[in-house]
Amino acid sequence: MCAAEKNGEGLGRGDRLPRMVTPPPGPEARRLAELLDRYEAPGVNTLPAAFTADGSAGSKREASATPAILWREARGANVVDVDGNRYIDLTAGFGVAAVGHRHPRVVAAARRQAGVLLHALGDVHAHPLRIEVARRLGEWAPVDDPRVYFAVSGADAVEIALKTAALATGKSGVLCFDPGYHGLTLGALSVTSRPIFRQPFEDRLAPRTVHRLAYGCPATTIEQALGSGAIGAAIVEPVVGREGVLLPPRGWLTDLAALCRRHGVLFIADEVFTGFGRTGQRFAVDHEGVRPDLLCCGKALAGGLPLAATIGRAEVMEGWRTDGEALHTATHLANPVACACACAVLDLLEDGELARRARALGALLARRLARFNEFSVVSEVRGRGLLWGIEVDHRDTAYAWTGAALQQGLLVLAGGPNATVLQLCPPLTITHRQLLAALDVLTITAPGAPRRSRR
Ligand SMILES: Cc1ncc(COP(=O)(O)O)c(C=O)c1O
Repeated sequence: MCAAEKNGEGLGRGDRLPRMVTPPPGPEARRLAELLDRYEAPGVNTLPAAFTADGSAGSKREASATPAILWREARGANVVDVDGNRYIDLTAGFGVAAVGHRHPRVVAAARRQAGVLLHALGDVHAHPLRIEVARRLGEWAPVDDPRVYFAVSGADAVEIALKTAALATGKSGVLCFDPGYHGLTLGALSVTSRPIFRQPFEDRLAPRTVHRLAYGCPATTIEQALGSGAIGAAIVEPVVGREGVLLPPRGWLTDLAALCRRHGVLFIADEVFTGFGRTGQRFAVDHEGVRPDLLCCGKALAGGLPLAATIGRAEVMEGWRTDGEALHTATHLANPVACACACAVLDLLEDGELARRARALGALLARRLARFNEFSVVSEVRGRGLLWGIEVDHRDTAYAWTGAALQQGLLVLAGGPNATVLQLCPPLTITHRQLLAALDVLTITAPGAPRRSRR
């Protein structure tokens, strides 16, 4: 490897194809993963069977004996691991890198702000950039008379939305949907569906106040639940992300919002995953013209730095007014560097070009992925914009597929309640050539598929 590549200059604009120098995980990844294992709490850095050296699915025991790769650097739609392997990233870093990894304008904003102010006093002494981000988020979000409450993570934004609803309505009851993922802090966990996350903490959650219905269920079922009068808020992912990429039936969000309004229930759209152009509109609720009472966002907002927010109608946010201490805050609330990066991200998204790009590349994916239905292991392909899921018959199949793709230089995650859905979520800046190359890799690595390109 030449020195330039070692220093990352070989990534250009992050528009490169994969280049493997050693089968992942390579020796450096293995060495570092062992150290990680020694110093970090167990179970944090999960090593699914996908990452066995030959890409085959192994048992959990085998998997934990085999280290996953570690990222050394990333740019655009490329990631380079610590052994120098270059990948195309179909994860966008859990959806964070919508404008691409390490976008130069985001980096420049971070550098500028780092030279001025790294940290202010959260809920006590603010900094000027906060005003700018709050103003622009309010303009962006489809929320009437908007006010912004900053958060440090998606789960924190969900906590704020749930607390806002409780303050505004005086009701602790919440309607949520299965499957759905809203984060893992206790309040957010109470409305997250997957049992494996919930069960160890069940006695701290609030089963009596949480009403769970099937995602996309009939309006009459929702009406019945809301009719009890105990529910103050309904929280929903406008497109389910991590839990398997599910689209709601056409008009379902509109009906849900109307039912909420009729029953005086606040409608919370969790757009932590889907916000900022991912599905081809600024926010996924925009596909149906729905205007939520509260909207949670995060992930892509600051282009790689931790920043999230809940945007709510002013009337609803009034419940937070206090003469004393803020009722919900965090030391790192609205971090100045993250706010500077958010301004850069909003600049980059402003003209709508990246959302248009998500729609255009989404149409290409719809056409190309339809062919995957011919694979015996594939039961369904679905998605919108640049968020797609390929559902397979078994989690071992999904892990075998993601593991084999990793060997060919493609990063793709298996999601869904049973890890049976390959989740395609590239940066919105991914090039046409990279996307076609990624589809080629998925085609030749599909378990049971003919090992040739179908492009
Ligand atoms: C829809 C949704 N809400 C909330 C969260 C939680 O966000 P965070 O991981 O930043 O706490 C996620 C994370 O994947 C998400 O997809």
